[in-house]
Amino acid sequence: MNIPFNTLKPLYEAHGAEYREAAVRVLDSGWYVLGKETGAFEEEFAAFAGSSYCVGLNSGLDALSLALRALGTGPGDEVIVPANTYIATALAVTANGAVPVFVDSDEYHCIDAGRIEEAVTSKTRCILPVHLYGQACDMGAVMRAAEKHGLFVAEDCAQSHGAAWEGKLSGTFGNIGCFSFFPTKNIGAFGDAGAVVTDDAALADKVRMLRNYGSRKKYYNEIPGVNSRLDEIQAALLRVRLKHADEILETRKRIAETYLRLLRNERIALPRVRAGASHTWHLFAIECGRRDELQLFLRENGIETQIHYPVPPYLSDVYSHMNLTRTSFPTASLQADRVLSLPLYHGMSEEDINHVAETVNRFR
Ligand SMILES: Cc1ncc(COP(=O)(O)O)c(C=O)c1O
Repeated sequence: MNIPFNTLKPLYEAHGAEYREAAVRVLDSGWYVLGKETGAFEEEFAAFAGSSYCVGLNSGLDALSLALRALGTGPGDEVIVPANTYIATALAVTANGAVPVFVDSDEYHCIDAGRIEEAVTSKTRCILPVHLYGQACDMGAVMRAAEKHGLFVAEDCAQSHGAAWEGKLSGTFGNIGCFSFFPTKNIGAFGDAGAVVTDDAALADKVRMLRNYGSRKKYYNEIPGVNSRLDEIQAALLRVRLKHADEILETRKRIAETYLRLLRNERIALPRVRAGASHTWHLFAIECGRRDELQLFLRENGIETQIHYPVPPYLSDVYSHMNLTRTSFPTASLQADRVLSLPLYHGMSEEDINHVAETVNRFR
């Protein structure tokens, strides 16, 4: 029995006719960039995300980078980011000429909100928490720190579509929420795509200008912008994805809950959900002190897994000039050595889930 880490085809095939109809509709329309589909998707995604405005972009990295730029981030500024995240979070800060200031993880793999204040300096402009693996951060504590020090908050929601903290959706706490629709994300496109959501009309307007060469009116350029426009085909396909969001999130939850029920091995720590947080299970990351042996054992038994992330951003070559070490962030370093993400995808049968759980349970 071979179980991949992920496969995207079953989710496409579940509503294949709708995706094909949407793609052909755009092809037949003769209009391919910034049109009706993008506008409709922006309205629908804003409603899904619980925000007033959405601006569709090329990628999650662009969403983060343009959000920070719209908040005025530039050279000389610092942005507080979690030590454990995908590199894009930190790169978005660097792309604006600012410095990412890392804060260690808590036991839920998110930023340790209790340590944010230690990282605040006179240069801090913004806090950039990441709702990692699909679980919302402790946004109460993040917002208290931001309010106390007068900081902006941009949320990295690349992995947390639909996740909430105390009933309020991720992406709606700070000034702006940044989403990725990379195909493997819970709400995924069929290529690169991203978006920001906000309740601030002026901020939305700024990102809208930035994504289109800094212009509101064609050939009249007000600020140095980029080309980061969500195209019509991705927008149309994402509208179909969004229609099925409840089913997608429900399926992931069912698989995760089955794992939580079946996995029993004292060598393994199961993912924990913080009281007050909801988890949308973008990733099901267990921890194991002998992680590499476990990964090999699973591979020998036909089960593919992945590590999120083997090299945390503060140890990656791109930030080697900061001279940070494993001891700089002991919790994140330990987690990077121990985490292992199990297969979790639409179309996984009960038999597949049982096989993964039984095999993990057999690891000695
Ligand atoms: C936490 C996080 N932030 C940002 C990104 C960047 O998104 P994208 O790949 O769409 O640029 C990702 C996606 O991989 C991510 O996981």
